[in-house]
Amino acid sequence: MSQRETWATRVGFILAAVGSAVGLGNVWQFPFQTGANGGAAFIVVYLAAVFLIGFPAMLAEFVIGRRAERNPIDAFARLGHRDWRVVGVLGTLSAFWILAFYSVVGGWVIRYIVGSATGAYFSGSEAYFGAIAAGPDAVGLHAVFMALTVGVVALGVTDGIERSTKLMVPSIVLLLGGLAVWAVTLDGGGAGYAYYLSPDIDTLVANIGSILPAAVGQAFFTLSLGMGAMLTYASYLGRDDSLPADGATIVVLNTFVGLLAGLVVFPILFSLGIEPGSGGLGAAFITLAGAFAQLPAGRLLGVVFFVVLLLAALSSAISLLEVVTAYLVDNTDRSRSTLAVALGAAIFALGVPSAFGLPILSWYNAIAYNLLLPLSVLCLLLFVGWVDTDDAVAELRRGTGLGEGGAVAWLWFVRTVVPLGVLVTLLLGLQSLAVRAGLLAEAVV
Ligand code: PFF
Repeated sequence: MSQRETWATRVGFILAAVGSAVGLGNVWQFPFQTGANGGAAFIVVYLAAVFLIGFPAMLAEFVIGRRAERNPIDAFARLGHRDWRVVGVLGTLSAFWILAFYSVVGGWVIRYIVGSATGAYFSGSEAYFGAIAAGPDAVGLHAVFMALTVGVVALGVTDGIERSTKLMVPSIVLLLGGLAVWAVTLDGGGAGYAYYLSPDIDTLVANIGSILPAAVGQAFFTLSLGMGAMLTYASYLGRDDSLPADGATIVVLNTFVGLLAGLVVFPILFSLGIEPGSGGLGAAFITLAGAFAQLPAGRLLGVVFFVVLLLAALSSAISLLEVVTAYLVDNTDRSRSTLAVALGAAIFALGVPSAFGLPILSWYNAIAYNLLLPLSVLCLLLFVGWVDTDDAVAELRRGTGLGEGGAVAWLWFVRTVVPLGVLVTLLLGLQSLAVRAGLLAEAVV
């Protein structure tokens, strides 16, 4: 087997991980989930979930990956716990599954860049979305998005992923920052900031049962946890920098981009008197595109916004493909590019049904969000918290000035608060899947 690749620089690793974290979840899903869950009240719970649950869980993935220097499936065996390989299999299959429909949405984004430039959706954004979201066109653009993803991964860890994310992540921040500054100039946008930034405690208390699982689920998704992406990226570290410091940088930057997206979306919607109530799949595409259609320079704004969305989606998709590719690169003699192309084709095929109907795509999403993701995170946490404990603590402290106390506090979180939070989310997620399945059965009968 040839020498395993490593990141060329520390910044390269951080930006690649930020690229994975910052994705459709931040720019497309986060503002609209916030809208659907009562505005600023949701954000309070979300921030708590990100820092108290997501951050310790991310470090758990990092310690496994950096110590094992292997893909998620082989990592457990390398650490002397062969039986736990099944957790790596679950994560890898989840990455495969999620990329299948993530790429379909990536295809929509490409379509909307063109649609913004030509003004194609300006005469009716809902009808336009209905026409492009499912069918042969959606399949074609799903193929284009997947080809871009394969192209980056085929080039390798340093030449492909590190180089491209070093360009993409700063571009996302600059363009989104530019849009947020522009949004300040909108008449009537003030109500949007108030809605977004001043939490209403009554709303929070009254809806905590639905806000909590949505916030925790969003925290895991946005931090790319549970699918082995962070584990795989950490496996290319080959250096002794501080994992807590790098992890904190990644979490803060990811949160910053999510909040920035809200500072773009809410003033735009409120300035036009549009309620950000619906968190459905089409929200960014119908509501926001509808808003661009009414604004001066709407075409330019639309192009910039959807380019941001494309860069965010692409830098996340490559981390999903890398999880699966890493397994085969570590275990076969075939070239990385051959493997990336073959896997890309297989994942493309799995995604095709979801490009033929929104209800199907929404099922793919629900299975990932409610089942695969929390289950996989839970298993990883149990492994680090209860099985691999001493080695994990030593690994966390490697390359840091972190004292015994800090490491013990982390371990305590990983053993108790975090898995409990995930367990509750998993149970509520299963319940919501069961409700969906029940509705489906009713519809069929
Ligand atoms: N974090 C990405 C987003 O917010 O869109 C989605 C994602 C990418 C999840 C990679 C998981 C993953 F492994």
